[in-house]
Amino acid sequence: MNEIHDQIGEEGISAFVAAFYRRVKEDDLIGPMYPADDWEGSEKRLRDFLIYRCGGSQRYLEERGHPRLRMRHFPFPIGEAERDRWLKLMGEALDESEVPEPSREMLDAFFAQTADFMRNR
Ligand code: HEM
Repeated sequence: MNEIHDQIGEEGISAFVAAFYRRVKEDDLIGPMYPADDWEGSEKRLRDFLIYRCGGSQRYLEERGHPRLRMRHFPFPIGEAERDRWLKLMGEALDESEVPEPSREMLDAFFAQTADFMRNR
């Protein structure tokens, strides 16, 4: 997915992650799962993870180690409804930020696959 970092850079990734968290904060289903006193931290973790995963800075690995995303999501009950809501909010965030093709298509596929993999209920 290095093409994504080449095409939209840290700036583009940070913009859609910010748009995503603006929605998560207001969301009745998945909003309450996130630590209410650390929105900035949550936003930074997803942003740095995606920057690393899309071929940019390795800051996430330096600060958080191996992602082990499925394990890190075990504490949160994620079924189909939570998966679908996460994907809906992310889709809206990508729309708002006008992420261009081919990055958009690659991100849609990556998120659909990863969100399904996080299901633990
Ligand atoms: C399927 C629905 C999902 C739900 C309900 C969910 C929920 C959460 C919650 C509540 C957290 C803790 C927030 C925090 O870090 O303070 C978290 C962390 C995180 N999530 Fe998700 N998530 C979902 C899917 C995804 C997907 C699809 C990705 C990546 C493509 C992702 C990437 C991350 C990352 C990188 C972290 C921080 C991990 C760490 O370093 O501790 N999540 N998620």
